[in-house]
Amino acid sequence: MLVDTHAHLYVAEFESDRLLMIERARAVGVEKIVLPNIDRESTASMMELHAQFPSLCLPAIGLHPCSVEAGRWEQDLAEMKALLVADHPFVGIGETGLDLYWDQSTLDIQIAALEAQCAWALEFDLPIILHTREATRQCIDVVKPWAAKGMRGVFHCFSGTVEEAKEVAEMGFFLGIGGVVTFKKSNLPELVKQVPTELLVLETDSPYLAPVPYRGKRNESAYLSLIAETLGEHLLMGPKAIAAVTTANAQRLFKRL
Ligand code: NI
Repeated sequence: MLVDTHAHLYVAEFESDRLLMIERARAVGVEKIVLPNIDRESTASMMELHAQFPSLCLPAIGLHPCSVEAGRWEQDLAEMKALLVADHPFVGIGETGLDLYWDQSTLDIQIAALEAQCAWALEFDLPIILHTREATRQCIDVVKPWAAKGMRGVFHCFSGTVEEAKEVAEMGFFLGIGGVVTFKKSNLPELVKQVPTELLVLETDSPYLAPVPYRGKRNESAYLSLIAETLGEHLLMGPKAIAAVTTANAQRLFKRL
C-alpha cells in the first residue's frame, strides 16, 4: 500500500481521463490520496472527487499562499473555516505556507493567512500542509511556535537545505518527498539520509513535478511508485519496506486516513 500525501487530482488537467488515471494509481498500490485545496474556486471540484471516491480521495481545507489576495483572503478563510463543522471530511489544513517566488508583495498577508490556518490546525487537531517556495526559512520561523504548542504537519515537496531539513525534523514535522528526488541536480538524495526515515512521506503533487522519465509532463498518482522506488534506492530499502514505512508515517501524520 502507498499513500500519495499531496495530489490535486480534481483540477482541469485530469478532465479527460480522471477515472482511468485513478485506476492506474490503484493498480500500482496507491490506496489513499490526500487532496489539498487551493482556493475558494477549487473547493467544489475537490469535494466532488471526494464524494466519488470517499475512502480513496481525502480532502484538506485551506488557502494556497499564491491565492492569498488583498481584499478577499479574510472572507475566503471565513468560508473555508465554516466547512469545519461536525463530521467534516477533512484530513488536514492546507495547503497553506509561503511563496516568495511568484509574488513577494503579498508576504504580509501570506503570513497572516498562514497564522490563521495554524490556529485551525491546533483547534481541530489536523496536520498543516505547508507549501514553501524560496521561503523555507521564513515558513519555519512562522510555524515553529505553533509546533511547540503541539501542531503537527508536513513541509510538502520539501525544497530547503539539509540544515533546514534537520530543523524541520527537530520540530517533529514531516517532509514530503516527490518527483524532485528523481532529478539529477536535486539535493534530496543526500538530504533524506540525514533526517529520520520516520519523518518522510511520499507525494506526487500531481499534476506538477512529474518524476523522471515523465519530467515536464503531467504528473499523476500512479507515478508515486517511481518516487517510492527512487527514495528506496537512496535509503537502501526495497519497494516493500519503503512502502510500509512511508505509509505508517502518513498514517501518523494524517490520523484520519
Ligand atoms: Ni499543492
